[in-house]
Amino acid sequence: MRKANAADLDFIKDSSIDFICTHPPYADIIKYSQDIEGDISLLTYEDFLKEMTPVAQESYRVLKKGKRCAVMIGDMRKRGKVVPLGFRVMDRFLQAGFAIEEIIIKKQHHCRSTKYWEKQNNNFLLLEHEYIFVFQK
Ligand SMILES: C[S@@+](CC[C@H](N)C(=O)[O-])C[C@H]1O[C@@H](n2cnc3c(N)ncnc32)[C@H](O)[C@@H]1O
Repeated sequence: MRKANAADLDFIKDSSIDFICTHPPYADIIKYSQDIEGDISLLTYEDFLKEMTPVAQESYRVLKKGKRCAVMIGDMRKRGKVVPLGFRVMDRFLQAGFAIEEIIIKKQHHCRSTKYWEKQNNNFLLLEHEYIFVFQK
C-alpha cells in the first residue's frame, strides 16, 4: 500500500481519467494492517480527514472535465456519539472543486450491528447505512 499523499498520482496526467470509484477505509474502524507505512486505516479520525484532502485534490486533477468520481463511505459512532466521517469526507471533495451530483444512501449488510438492526421494526436507518457520493468535475 502506498501512502495517500498528493504525490501518489503524480504518474497520471491531468484530466486523463474517465471514472474514479473508491471505497476507502472508514478511518480506523477496521485496521487493514498492523503497521504498513501509508495504511490510512491506522490513522485517527482527524489525521484520516487530513489525508483525504490530497486524495480529493488529486482525484480532481486527474479526472476529465464532466466525468464522475464515486466515493463510498459511512459514519461511525464513538463513545455513544455520532462521528460524521461520511459528510466530512464529502466536504473534502467539494473543497477540491467537485460538484455533487448524487448522495446515494445504501443499507449496510453483514456488519457487526446487522443482527441488532434486523430486530428493529422501523424505517429509520440511524447508522445502518453508508453513502455513495457521486461527484462530478
Ligand atoms: C472499506 S475497504 C473496501 C473494500 C473493497 N470494497 C473491496 O471489496 O475490496 C478499504 C480497502 O482499501 C484498501 N486500501 C487501499 N489503499 C489503502 C491505504 N493506503 N490505506 C488503507 N487501506 C487501503 C484496504 O486494504 C481495504 O481493502
